[in-house]
Amino acid sequence: MRPTVNDCKLINLPKISERKGAITPIYGGEHVPFEIARVYYLYDVPSGENRGGHAHKELQQLVVSVMGAFDVVLNDGHEHKRVHLDRPNYGLYIPRMIWRELENFSSGGICLVLASAPYDETDYIRDYREYLKYIQQDSE
Ligand code: TYD
Repeated sequence: MRPTVNDCKLINLPKISERKGAITPIYGGEHVPFEIARVYYLYDVPSGENRGGHAHKELQQLVVSVMGAFDVVLNDGHEHKRVHLDRPNYGLYIPRMIWRELENFSSGGICLVLASAPYDETDYIRDYREYLKYIQQDSE
């Protein structure tokens, strides 16, 4: 079954708080429902700039706002959902085949992404019309 926006879940991550600061550890297969193959982070996003604007055929991700805030707009071709991320101990799980846009980055915002596979451009669907065509075939 193709995932829907209702399969995108906000995951409450561990937070070890001490007088000297906080730590959030994340384990693949435990806090996220996949093994972590890649970690990357988005930063220096100019004011007013959006990121994303694509879907992945197979990739699963956990998106965390480790600094500042941004919105993730999720779309499964039928329904939309906007999720505001502004805490480093919450991650948004995005399964395969969800169209996503990242918007409203606060100045200095940093978006950490844990991904289930190495970078592979052939896994991307970057054209929204192509995405709609693809999900139609997927559900036939
Ligand atoms: P992209 O995933 O389109 O960025 P975003 O979704 O944040 O807008 O990636 C932007 C560029 O960076 C694209 O040319 C591919 C490259 N890239 C890598 O080489 N390796 C990676 O792990 C990622 C995420 C991107």
